[in-house]
Amino acid sequence: MEVAQYFMLGIILMLNIQIIVHTHLVCTDNSLLHNATIDQMLPNHKIQSFTAPGLMICARECVYQTNCLSFNFDIESGQCELTRVVAGPSIPLVSKTGYVYAVKSDWVTTIAEKCTHVNCAPNHICVPSKTGDMCVLNDCGIPPVVEFGSSPEYRGTVFGYKATYNCSGIGVKAEIVTFICSDKGIWEGQHCRRVSSCKDIQDCDSSYVDGEYWIYPNAFGNDERVKVYCHGLTTDSPTDYITLPKENRILWPPMKAIGYDCDLVTTDRTDSGESVFDTIRITTSNMAINQSDYQFARLLSGINHEYGNARDCSNSNGICGHVVMGYAKIDTGQTGLIINRTAVWRNNGHTFGMKYFNRSSDHVIEAVCGGWCGGCYAETPLTLELDNSTILPDGSATGVTCRFNYSSGYM
Ligand SMILES: *[C@@H]1O[C@H](CO)[C@@H](O)[C@H](O)[C@H]1NC(C)=O
Ligand SMILES: *[C@@H]1O[C@H](CO)[C@@H](O)[C@H](O)[C@H]1NC(C)=O
Ligand SMILES: *[C@@H]1O[C@H](CO)[C@@H](O)[C@H](O)[C@H]1NC(C)=O
Ligand SMILES: *[C@@H]1O[C@H](CO)[C@@H](O)[C@H](O)[C@H]1NC(C)=O
Ligand SMILES: *[C@@H]1O[C@H](CO)[C@@H](O)[C@H](O)[C@H]1NC(C)=O
Ligand SMILES: *[C@@H]1O[C@H](CO)[C@@H](O)[C@H](O)[C@H]1NC(C)=O
Ligand SMILES: *[C@@H]1O[C@H](CO)[C@@H](O)[C@H](O)[C@H]1NC(C)=O
Repeated sequence: MEVAQYFMLGIILMLNIQIIVHTHLVCTDNSLLHNATIDQMLPNHKIQSFTAPGLMICARECVYQTNCLSFNFDIESGQCELTRVVAGPSIPLVSKTGYVYAVKSDWVTTIAEKCTHVNCAPNHICVPSKTGDMCVLNDCGIPPVVEFGSSPEYRGTVFGYKATYNCSGIGVKAEIVTFICSDKGIWEGQHCRRVSSCKDIQDCDSSYVDGEYWIYPNAFGNDERVKVYCHGLTTDSPTDYITLPKENRILWPPMKAIGYDCDLVTTDRTDSGESVFDTIRITTSNMAINQSDYQFARLLSGINHEYGNARDCSNSNGICGHVVMGYAKIDTGQTGLIINRTAVWRNNGHTFGMKYFNRSSDHVIEAVCGGWCGGCYAETPLTLELDNSTILPDGSATGVTCRFNYSSGYM
């Protein structure tokens, strides 16, 4: 802007302030203030707030911005607030001493020495320039609706302004999320998150105790509900389990086949064992099963062995593969989950053999394998997928309600 223009504006501004001050005393019929409302302001609906050296500058900013329809100006502090609506019966003005409220349409001809013939698109500002007035993107519009978020709190909608939301709802982390108006003209930010592990449930409210809960694992986009058993919720390291209502069993028998007839004899091997898994531990970030967690394995004999793997030491002479007895049974029925369909079992060990492998349904996998010693092992990590054919009742697990934790908000 040229010096002369600044000078002119300065004069207009000085005049303005005098006029405003005098308005309270004498009914000045000044054209500039004719349509301005004294000692009133329009709350909310803000586009931008800044300090302006005078009412004219504030009005000019409004005139240049497509989204601006009216503005407030605080004569004392010079606070200029651009708003995107016009006051009316449903959007009333409020009393505020020292403020002036005005509607843009009344000021267009008074203000716009430049940009007069330019019609910028919504979210744009007209920038006067010697080479021609330009429309420049500067606003993101009204902040978006955020799922599980409160209505946003914001002081403006132009580049760099923030909108904050309180997240709440069943299974939703009680946190504050922030969106920022980026210079692409888009509100960018992190959405409200749901609890995705037993640790999250503990962070949500430390009074929850071990039991069945609904979580929304990140492995399923933090979007799909999974029923987990939380263990150690009152300890420093809660862990996630899936309760298995059906039989899940592992057997590594102490048998050995001898002679050409492959007669079976019981040995005194100490590495045999049989267990039933009533639950399996999982890592919720990738829904991988921890096959060697025996927290809730019921040991029937010997020692525990990995979930899903079948092995024995029966085939000592390498010709008795047909008598192997290592057994593994997986049954994820009624859990809402199935074993990853692409997971494969591989043979491993000495003189191994897979006698039987049945994956007739998504829920049940049975294997009979053995060797000297050897068997078949699930390729790791053995992960779980959603079982879209099973719908678990809402009441079969607790949906958590998070306490608001002011320190857990992230920006
Ligand atoms: C006030 O409003 C009238 C009629 O709407 C208009 O002619 C006049 O220019 C406005 N005055 C100012 C200062 O904008
Ligand atoms: C979030 O909740 C707090 C406490 O109730 C409140 O002070 C704040 O204004 C709320 N923020 C939003 C964005 O709703
Ligand atoms: C699997 O479980 C075992 C036994 O509880 C534990 O030591 C190990 O850290 C767990 N592994 C993972 C990846 O969680
Ligand atoms: C299934 O397992 C394969 C191979 O391990 C893996 O690439 C894939 O991501 C898994 N799918 C799911 C849904 O976990
Ligand atoms: C596989 O298991 C299913 C279900 O238990 C059973 O009906 C079927 O006969 C089995 N298939 C073989 C080949 O054993
Ligand atoms: C189950 O549904 C989800 C979401 O609709 C989908 O992503 C997933 O692939 C489905 N799983 C199976 C095993 O079909
Ligand atoms: C609040 O959240 C922080 C960060 O997630 C956590 O460390 C703290 O324990 C939580 N406080 C309560 C009372 O839950």
